[in-house]
Amino acid sequence: MTDTNVGPLYQMPVKQSLEASGYEVSICTFEAGEAHKRAETYVAILEFVAEHELSRSDVIVALGGGVVGDVAGFVAATYMRGCKFVQIPTSLLAMVDSSVGGKTAIDLAAGKNLSGAFLQPAAVLCDTDCLRSLPAAVFADGAAEAIKTGVLSGETLFSLFEDGTLTDAPAEIIARCIRYKAGVVERDEKEQGERRKLNLGHTVGHAIEKCSGYAMPHGHAVAAGLAVMA
Ligand code: GLY
Repeated sequence: MTDTNVGPLYQMPVKQSLEASGYEVSICTFEAGEAHKRAETYVAILEFVAEHELSRSDVIVALGGGVVGDVAGFVAATYMRGCKFVQIPTSLLAMVDSSVGGKTAIDLAAGKNLSGAFLQPAAVLCDTDCLRSLPAAVFADGAAEAIKTGVLSGETLFSLFEDGTLTDAPAEIIARCIRYKAGVVERDEKEQGERRKLNLGHTVGHAIEKCSGYAMPHGHAVAAGLAVMA
């Protein structure tokens, strides 16, 4: 599963690679953007998956950023009451945060991520070469989530942002963000306590996104939310 931004860039190499390993691949593409992370898209993808007769032993692969991961994950969590799911995040935001931890969701008119499920991906594959195709503003979205993790996890990660490591050697920061988040999620998968820390800046951020009609990107809204909280 992918979107109209990422599909043209990366779906063919991923498809060919899977086919070379013996998989039969069907590609489902939906319109890019948070405004499409909604029930109509979710149901259309479920219908696609059912028409292609996927079974529980098949794998749903999310190839894209946070929106693709959220929608594809929610489809995987609910199609036939749950099937296997792999994340291939292509944005910095998805690599440092949303692809890890098993949160999946769509937005409702009443607010963001109000319908969803927890489903841990069987694997998360980050290829940092994908970051080269990101527009600067989309890279900045991911920087906001990475900086959030730096604030939470302490001085070592946070100081790397001051050293310019995010642009020069992003793999180092991505690995540290994933390691920190995986630890939190292992201790509190369903957000009963410690995991709530990962929502730093998000209450204000989600309000900004909703009030902008989802024109304000998630990372930019989180950055504003972090500033408010600071
Ligand atoms: N993005 C916050 C979390 O996964 O809990």
